[in-house]
Amino acid sequence: MRFLFLGDIVGKPGYSAVRTELPTIRAKLNLDAVVVNAENAADGSGLTPRQYRRLLESGVDVITMGDHVYRQKDLIETLKTSDQIVKPANFPKNSPGRSWSIVETPAGRIAVISLLGRLYMRPVDCLFNAVDQALSEIGDQADAILVDIHAEATGDKQLIGRYLDGRVTAVIGTHTHVPTADSQILPGGTAFQCDVGMCGPYESILGRSISRVLESSTSFVPDTFYVATKDVRLSGAIVEADQQGRAITIERFEKKINS
Ligand SMILES: [Fe+2]
Ligand SMILES: [Fe+2]
Repeated sequence: MRFLFLGDIVGKPGYSAVRTELPTIRAKLNLDAVVVNAENAADGSGLTPRQYRRLLESGVDVITMGDHVYRQKDLIETLKTSDQIVKPANFPKNSPGRSWSIVETPAGRIAVISLLGRLYMRPVDCLFNAVDQALSEIGDQADAILVDIHAEATGDKQLIGRYLDGRVTAVIGTHTHVPTADSQILPGGTAFQCDVGMCGPYESILGRSISRVLESSTSFVPDTFYVATKDVRLSGAIVEADQQGRAITIERFEKKINS
């Protein structure tokens, strides 16, 4: 199985680029599945139900979110009823949404789990317990398993990577919007990368207009941060897995859309 995982879709530039480019990318790279993190698609915060539907139409199989999962209230119904979008599995029991998802691909079934880190983020449940629970529920229903570790700290990400090594196909990070150069196959056969970066405008501060963020951060006067527009890139990783669900390769993926 060969799948692409794309990092946080940021605003209209990221969303439009995924919509336009994905059908070609999917065919050209011979992908069996595409998973995207879309937590910043709706103008930088959350995802709308319409965007959710459109992303699936463009060739996305499963959507992960993160700390912005409930920013668009309309999405809550979709989170409750759809089986192609997941909430972080270590959110409280009462939080709306599924903790894992499994979809059919031409090369078998892929399961997707999202986890939130605990360092410099709002307090959430233990990610180790949550992923153990999700994996026991998934059992042998999946041929490959992808875990999106949505966290600030590289340490959090490496910990969960090592914890899951040999038990899942890939542990791939999102949330910082900056790609890291550490893609690797861990000794047990799990593909790992601390962060794949975002699908959005790179001439920015994490996707937002530089001048606004700079002005507000240096003056302490709060302001609205707009999504930036320049240097749009799609960023992700392509993982190839064997029949046992072990990763064979992980390659960084980047496509420049405009300058
Ligand atoms: Fe994000
Ligand atoms: Fe995030």
